[in-house]
Amino acid sequence: MNLISISDLSKKQILWLLDSADRFKEMRGRDPEGSEPSLPLRRKNVAMIFEKPSTRTRVSMEVATTELGGHALYLSADELQLGRGETVADTARVLSRYVHGITARVYSHNTVTQLAEHASVPVINALSDWEHPLQVLADLQTVRQRFGTLEGLQLAWVGDGNNVCNSLILAAAIIGMEIAVASPKGYEPAEQILEQARSLGGQPKVVEEPPEAAKGADVVVTDTWVSMGDEDQAAERLRVFGRYQISSWLMKQANEKAIAMHCLPAHRGQEITDEVMDGPQSAVFDEAENRLHTSKAVFAWMIAGR
Ligand code: CP
Ligand code: NVA
Repeated sequence: MNLISISDLSKKQILWLLDSADRFKEMRGRDPEGSEPSLPLRRKNVAMIFEKPSTRTRVSMEVATTELGGHALYLSADELQLGRGETVADTARVLSRYVHGITARVYSHNTVTQLAEHASVPVINALSDWEHPLQVLADLQTVRQRFGTLEGLQLAWVGDGNNVCNSLILAAAIIGMEIAVASPKGYEPAEQILEQARSLGGQPKVVEEPPEAAKGADVVVTDTWVSMGDEDQAAERLRVFGRYQISSWLMKQANEKAIAMHCLPAHRGQEITDEVMDGPQSAVFDEAENRLHTSKAVFAWMIAGR
């Protein structure tokens, strides 16, 4: 089994993973060394390919692997023969002879789907230009811990309709949450994602103005205006995204108990203000922590079959 899109998982599987992540979190709370007594990844190696930088994804996946008794290999794409023209398919075939699972952070979604097609071990998407399923599992764990439930909650996305947003739209459809996306014209989520969400039973709304999305929301989420790979468009993006910011004013348009989320890294003063990031409604650092617990849940299940 692979995790390329969050839609590779059913609602039941997502909820099972969140329960498992909650158990890992509780266990680590009791034992800060975090070792899971049964060490499900004992004698297992996980190859982690990175074409782009990472703080949370890399560290949470490496620590998760170590704490579950396994070994993680950080493989920068530039330092692999991949960087000198070896094909993605051959890389997948060869790595599958050594390791028990492959994670990949790639520019093009096609790279991670090709890896999955040619690997004989599970492949996990650690962020592509199309989706970020591991992030969204951590987001769901965070939301469920804050509200005690997921079904029926209202999410507001403010900003770029790309990878993280795409996974959240699909997750909302699978779980049964409402989502309204406010993006500047030309930066809305792709019709293909909206269509897929509708086919999963969702009714994602796309609006232009952030307060329209935030009105009545339980969770207000944003992401950087300039994703990795979009740096050449930075000047134009900074110009058009100006009002797509989670500010205290925007949070006031949402429900009184609403939380603010961001996958991080944040560009403080751009897509989110310091006041919100460091304020009482912020869930961003719990969200970052939950990357560890959800990675454990995914690896234990997909790589170790537990
Ligand atoms: N949220 C997230 O994926 O962060 P990194 O880019 O630091 O891994
Ligand atoms: N949308 C961002 C997410 C980073 C975790 C990017 O692709 O750079």
